[in-house]
Amino acid sequence: MNKINVAVVGCGYWGPNLLRNFNQIPGCDMQVCCDLDPVKLERIKSLYPTIVTTDRLDDVLRDPAIDAVAIATPVHTHTSIGKKCLEHHKHVLIEKPLAASAEECRALIQLAEQQGRVLMVGHTFQYAAAVNKAKEIVESGELGNIYYINCTRANLGLFQPDINVIWDLAPHDISIITYILEELPLTVNAQGKAHFKPNIEDVATVTLNFSNGTIAFIHNSWLNPDKIRKITIVGSKKMLVYDDISPNEKIRIYDKGVDVPPYYDTFAEFQFAYRYGDIYTPRVSEYEPLRRECEHFLECIQEGKMPKSNGYTGLQVVSILEAANQSLRHHGARQAIDQNYSPFLKAAA
Ligand SMILES: NC(=O)c1ccc[n+]([C@@H]2O[C@H](COP(=O)([O-])OP(=O)(O)OC[C@H]3O[C@@H](n4cnc5c(N)ncnc54)[C@H](O)[C@@H]3O)[C@@H](O)[C@H]2O)c1
Repeated sequence: MNKINVAVVGCGYWGPNLLRNFNQIPGCDMQVCCDLDPVKLERIKSLYPTIVTTDRLDDVLRDPAIDAVAIATPVHTHTSIGKKCLEHHKHVLIEKPLAASAEECRALIQLAEQQGRVLMVGHTFQYAAAVNKAKEIVESGELGNIYYINCTRANLGLFQPDINVIWDLAPHDISIITYILEELPLTVNAQGKAHFKPNIEDVATVTLNFSNGTIAFIHNSWLNPDKIRKITIVGSKKMLVYDDISPNEKIRIYDKGVDVPPYYDTFAEFQFAYRYGDIYTPRVSEYEPLRRECEHFLECIQEGKMPKSNGYTGLQVVSILEAANQSLRHHGARQAIDQNYSPFLKAAA
């Protein structure tokens, strides 16, 4: 099978990770790197002398040998760069969040479908072994009915100049929650505070309300003393904690819970029974999620299939981000989420 020729656009913090991974995949030929900043290009050139560097997107677009483009530029540029690439018949992987609005996501989806090209969004955690293990455990029913999910993604920084902490960090949590539950929330509400720059909230909490009563809380902060990447899933039977920082116990299952007596006549008879059972750590394979994401992108191009994190999943996350932002501007009022599309039906198995 022919190698797929890839270009990376945007070589700041995240782009070099895409480049490193594509460069290591046997079925891929990492050819061109594009960035507006000559310093970033110089660094890439010193690390990968054979890769062509350019500050002109046109060089990528007009090169017929380039089959696919991975875009890791600031969010407000995703749509214009993505559209140009699709118009020039390139397959496109766009970093999260897919675009700056749901309308832009729809335009990208439509164009990719018209051009018959793969459109994928970089929801990296959908490719993480621990997230897939958590999904498997939830789907097996081991935790029982899911009462609530609590996500904390916090650190000191990195402050972003153009987007708030929700647009920066919550795409990860939202993509993980909706991937695990395979459901969209009915409503979303959010609260937050901008301590340094007006309207750029540096700390926020987003709440997702699902039709079956499950509730999910997402706490994001750039103003936290330590780095936390933790998701707790509380079910009627057991509880699961996924700690992405933990080196070798990323997932723990707690056989803990509360049992309510079936009936009671008086207040004195009403007593909860707390269950303190075993705690175990399932084995989780070790691999770099981004490597899987890049391999999946190439596989989708080769086999003409819809990626697991496709334009629709990107749209779903961006719709929730938009609703959360609306809620922030309306003192935490609940915002409805459009249920008129089903990204889950569109996703490849
Ligand atoms: N999947 C993940 O875990 C993950 C992690 C971090 C960042 N990201 C995403 O990656 C994207 C980039 O984030 P970052 O932290 O690397 O930002 P960054 O600011 O460090 O890098 C962006 C780079 O894009 C370049 N650039 C800007 N406009 C350009 C244009 N028109 N053409 C070519 N280059 C251009 C800039 O010069 C800069 O080098 C964002 O969408 C972000 O959300 C994803």
